[in-house]
Amino acid sequence: MVGIVGAGQLARMTIEAASALGIPVVLLAEEPTSAGAQITSRVLLGAPTDAGQLWALAARCDVMTFDHEHIDLEMLTTFEEAGVAVRPGVEAMRMGVDKAHMRETLRAAGLPVAQYAVLDPTDPRPLATQVQDFASVYGWPLVLKASRDGYDGKGVWPVANPAAAASVCARAEAAGIPLMVEIHVPIDFELSALVVRRASETRAWPVVETTQVNGVCRELVMPGQVTPAMATSAQALAVQIADAIGLVGVMAVELFATGDTVLVNELALRPHNSGHWTIEGSVTSQFENHVRAVLDLPLGSTEAAFPHVATVNVFGPADGSDPSGRLAGALAVEGAHVHLYGKEPRAGRKLGHVTVCGADQSDVRNRAWRAARALGTQVPTSVSGQAAVR
Ligand SMILES: Nc1ncnc2c1ncn2[C@@H]1O[C@H](COP(=O)(O)OP(=O)(O)O)[C@@H](O)[C@H]1O
Ligand SMILES: [Mg+2]
Repeated sequence: MVGIVGAGQLARMTIEAASALGIPVVLLAEEPTSAGAQITSRVLLGAPTDAGQLWALAARCDVMTFDHEHIDLEMLTTFEEAGVAVRPGVEAMRMGVDKAHMRETLRAAGLPVAQYAVLDPTDPRPLATQVQDFASVYGWPLVLKASRDGYDGKGVWPVANPAAAASVCARAEAAGIPLMVEIHVPIDFELSALVVRRASETRAWPVVETTQVNGVCRELVMPGQVTPAMATSAQALAVQIADAIGLVGVMAVELFATGDTVLVNELALRPHNSGHWTIEGSVTSQFENHVRAVLDLPLGSTEAAFPHVATVNVFGPADGSDPSGRLAGALAVEGAHVHLYGKEPRAGRKLGHVTVCGADQSDVRNRAWRAARALGTQVPTSVSGQAAVR
């Protein structure tokens, strides 16, 4: 039995994959209506930091794994010390929970990261002054980031000048949010390298190009603009990190392509939105390989099953309507694999994704966007090659 802390769409798709292997999954869900909890009766209700319910989860499963990073590492350490199989381990998970720790570890290992500084709330100099010190070396604009609990761009604040930085610092200080500052990278495009590891083997999927709008992933394309040389170096970085931290399970490494180099932006130590294409587009999906890895079963091939794959995220339309009411339009698009997560529809909320696989890049993108549009998702004006997806 696999226990998952959290019950969102990642848990839901993990259950779908585990189910095919006859592997049961039990969830710790905050709500009985969570995307994952809807498709299984094996659900414990509680917060991811509810020690009592975490112990109950541990008692029911052979290994404990995670759907998100909103966890209490210190609490989980006591579980690990008591002999609970926590996968990935707590020290590895720290890389996904705390961006400042992740940056320090990557920089110490000599890996390429953007120039940054961790702001120190105990320093007598105000946070805004610490940002100004950083700016006096690297200039403006900069990016301020919450080092914990951010996702989908929540917790990422581009700032163009000292006044904007001071206002973000004041708000973060009032809310007790730990901050880091980094240069605003002139990004050519973003990419993601997905790996899976258990003690005896590490495998990397082909690298994808990802498109974020306001910090939210809208689209991924395999291989997109990722050149073979870039893919090789991104995969090597991801494998190096996975081996160095003793990863068990799936990890996504988000990277920025800038000029001739790639920089590591952040890590997610779990199945990730940038890996949704693997469900239909590769021999073994990220969800199946995550289950295999945490149970120490042989990993499946991470080869692509098609030359080109596009995945487009589905968001709640502005009128708040439910995309599931428009399923027929999306299913009418040839080859569209539609995934709706069963989440309560809200304008702008990520509710699903569509994947199309094939032999031609603009064709798969075009069809994936067509299906997403049929579900009520708008094509953002900044999505590149928009003309191709009309
Ligand atoms: N230093 C930076 N320079 C330019 N853009 C950035 C920088 N950091 C983040 N971004 C943009 O914001 C997005 C979200 O930032 P990220 O650190 O990945 O936070 P999250 O945890 O919300 O995914 C990135 O995918 C990228 O588009
Ligand atoms: Mg990110």
